[in-house]
Amino acid sequence: MKKLIIAIDGPSGVGKSTLSKVLAHEFGYLNLDTGAMYRAVALASFRQGIDASDHDALRQLCEEIVIEFSCNKGEEHVLLNGENVSSEIRTPEISLLTAAVAACPDVRQAMVARQRELGKAGGVVLEGRDIGTVVFPHADVKFFLKASAEVRGRRRFLELQANGVEVELARTIADVEARDAADTNRTTSPLKQAEDAVVIDTTNLDIPQVMERMFAAVADRLNKGTSG
Ligand code: DC
Repeated sequence: MKKLIIAIDGPSGVGKSTLSKVLAHEFGYLNLDTGAMYRAVALASFRQGIDASDHDALRQLCEEIVIEFSCNKGEEHVLLNGENVSSEIRTPEISLLTAAVAACPDVRQAMVARQRELGKAGGVVLEGRDIGTVVFPHADVKFFLKASAEVRGRRRFLELQANGVEVELARTIADVEARDAADTNRTTSPLKQAEDAVVIDTTNLDIPQVMERMFAAVADRLNKGTSG
């Protein structure tokens, strides 16, 4: 059976991570959380005291650091130079810094190259902002997920709480809106819906309902693949 490249794009808190994990697991595909890669760069820059506007330093940083994914007992971890930074990259502070770091064209170039390398053989679900438009414009199936900022902020709030991170709901919603603005308005690879994407508004849908639509689209693509 053909091993597909599946792209999932959309703003933060829309459910991409959960959905992409389920989809990847179902098909035995690799799950690539590209946001985690930008977050790892942001954390590394924070630790080294590099300003997000210092693009030369960021470019050099991307050449030096090693970002990897590992799976342990069904849990996925992000490794920065071998260190598990999965929790540290998700604090509100690093989240905001990530939006700034991800706007740097040199950082994007380095991350996109790595994402293409990891995904080119297929059998992969990539989730991010520019997968269907920039990283794999010829992806086999493209999803674009959306939901209101309030619903997304609330979901992020619950997720952070569950991970033991102390935050306020209003702050989380404001952060989601700030990141939306940064992701949508940046010059290089802004968050944008691919014209041929399957668009799903998840505001009033739960995970199984969204999953059902995604499975149907992937099954449809696989059937087309086998029939010619
Ligand atoms: O999906 P996420 O919330 O973990 O993403 C973190 C940040 O990285 C967010 O500000 C958007 C940015 N990002 C990006 O610019 N391009 C991607 N492909 C993935 C994430």
